[in-house]
Amino acid sequence: MPKKDILFLDACVRGEASRTLELANRFLSNLADAQITHLKLDTLGLQPLDKARLHERDHLLHEGKTDASFFVHANIFRNAQWIVIAAPYWDFSFPALLKLYVENVSCSGVTFAYDETGKPVSLCRAERLVYITTAGGYIGENNFGFTYIRAVMEQFFGVKQSFHIAAEGLDIIGNDPRAILIAAEAQFPAALG
Ligand SMILES: Cc1cc2nc3c(=O)[nH]c(=O)nc-3n(C[C@H](O)[C@H](O)[C@H](O)COP(=O)(O)O)c2cc1C
Repeated sequence: MPKKDILFLDACVRGEASRTLELANRFLSNLADAQITHLKLDTLGLQPLDKARLHERDHLLHEGKTDASFFVHANIFRNAQWIVIAAPYWDFSFPALLKLYVENVSCSGVTFAYDETGKPVSLCRAERLVYITTAGGYIGENNFGFTYIRAVMEQFFGVKQSFHIAAEGLDIIGNDPRAILIAAEAQFPAALG
């Protein structure tokens, strides 16, 4: 049986010091039989869609050049079955780097299309989203990052199951961050099942 293709989107800006990355690596260690592509988002040179790039994108799409280097990340994304995202909880959501990635892969004609009723139809293999985060405080009802990512993944890219794994309260004085991270592993089985 072919190995499951997992795309690991690493938006952990603090690199090796990141507790979110640590939690994500522990999650991924349960997927030894998978093909994991690790994308460190801060090494990709991602650019926002400014006027010139939007024009370039429209031109390439008009010419049918969906395999152009402009769409390299969108084409990698199209082939992934599971999307595992590691993103710290920043300013009620996530680092801007992750939004830049979404903007780069979210492209009508490459990763999704609109049907005749205006409804988005996925052009991706994506089945599952696992969103892993850690927060200094408590996320509560302010889970804007995950809510947004889930909407894009499910409504544009056809993800059928989404899971949220969080370790919270890590920066609160008196809390034990190591114990909180270990306790957060109790959320793994649901997302692995
Ligand atoms: C730029 C920035 C913004 C943050 N915003 C929040 C926030 O809105 N709410 C919160 O509870 N913690 C916030 N934090 C704390 C982080 O969520 C917390 O330290 C997290 O564990 C960092 O993950 P990391 O160890 O993977 O970098 C913020 C930290 C930084 C550096």
